[in-house]
Amino acid sequence: MKKAKILSLVLTTAMSIATLTGCGASNDAEANKITTAPASTENKESKETPSGEAQSSETTVGFEEGTTIGISLPWLGTQNWKEAETMFKEQLETAGYKPIIQAADQKVPQQQQQIESMIENGAKVIVVGPVDGSQLGTVLEQAKDAGIYVIGYDRLLENTTGVDGVVQFGSVKTGELQAQALLDGLAKEKGAGPYNIELFGGGPADPNAPNFFKGAMSVLQPKIDDGTLTVVSGQKEFTQCATVDWDNSKAQSRMDSLLSGFYSDKEIHGVLSPNDGIARAIITSCENAGQKIPVVSGLDAENESVEWVWSGKQYSTVAKPTDALVGKTVEIIKSLQRGDGMPQTDVSTNNGVIDVPIYELPPVVITKENAKEAFANDPARLALLK
Ligand code: BGC
Repeated sequence: MKKAKILSLVLTTAMSIATLTGCGASNDAEANKITTAPASTENKESKETPSGEAQSSETTVGFEEGTTIGISLPWLGTQNWKEAETMFKEQLETAGYKPIIQAADQKVPQQQQQIESMIENGAKVIVVGPVDGSQLGTVLEQAKDAGIYVIGYDRLLENTTGVDGVVQFGSVKTGELQAQALLDGLAKEKGAGPYNIELFGGGPADPNAPNFFKGAMSVLQPKIDDGTLTVVSGQKEFTQCATVDWDNSKAQSRMDSLLSGFYSDKEIHGVLSPNDGIARAIITSCENAGQKIPVVSGLDAENESVEWVWSGKQYSTVAKPTDALVGKTVEIIKSLQRGDGMPQTDVSTNNGVIDVPIYELPPVVITKENAKEAFANDPARLALLK
């Protein structure tokens, strides 16, 4: 990273003096302008520019308004991805770009093909929420080789040099919030402990899912160790708790089995759920089994779960507003268009091959207590609180 940063700084200075006049780029120095170059410059050789300045083969150059921008989403199975599809279209068109937006229906080969066709269609930036964080290396490196910027959206792009940065909500932090809400809810609604709980994780191919679980376990494990919490099934490893493809019906089947196998003579007090769809599946399973509704966490502030939180059926969710995430991504695209490169960020994470700059937004836990306040600027969700 260090080498790339230095190279980029040199290039940025050189280019802003000499070369950036013709491509719609502004020379105005912005407070948050570039210090990182496209990730793959680290391994690329420098070459001479026409003006004789040292320049990488993939330096920071702007592009024209009206340029094609590719958006590759993993699926449209949860509200956040549907919102992303709509909001990217609106925001990119408003900013004058030509978006190609596709969703891959949870299928890796489909996503690879969609990205290939975005490359062929002349996209200058491709934004990717991967189905599987580690399976896109080759096609993303092809994109980089074609001089295209690649931005990870919501999920990390792993084991590839073909990524310039990732925009996301803190995923370990999200898990911590989910677990803390579970503990708070148990103390508030289920009397004094110890409490019987079960744990659920998200889709194992999604790099967020193990991180959500890791964050949650950092809060729950000490309470398991001191006897406040009992995981009655004993299933505490991510691999045992994960929900393939984030499929709500798979989570509901697992919950049915847990209840019939371990809770025929016991109350279940709480369940860690990685998102709202799975939370509702868990709650439905408990209702079907004649259990009192346990304290259940969630994620996404989906409309239906916001209503359930408000009516007391689901204890909590975590809001990670899609408009903010899309807005941040479009801001980065505009910086690239101006020729200002990837904006500076202090956060980075190793994706197995390189340190990837992370543009991180803060998730917010929502319970009935703070819902009105938290959604004060979100009229659509506010209207659900009635
Ligand atoms: C997202 C969640 C979403 C889940 C399933 C995760 O990567 O961060 O918002 O619920 O995928 O689509």
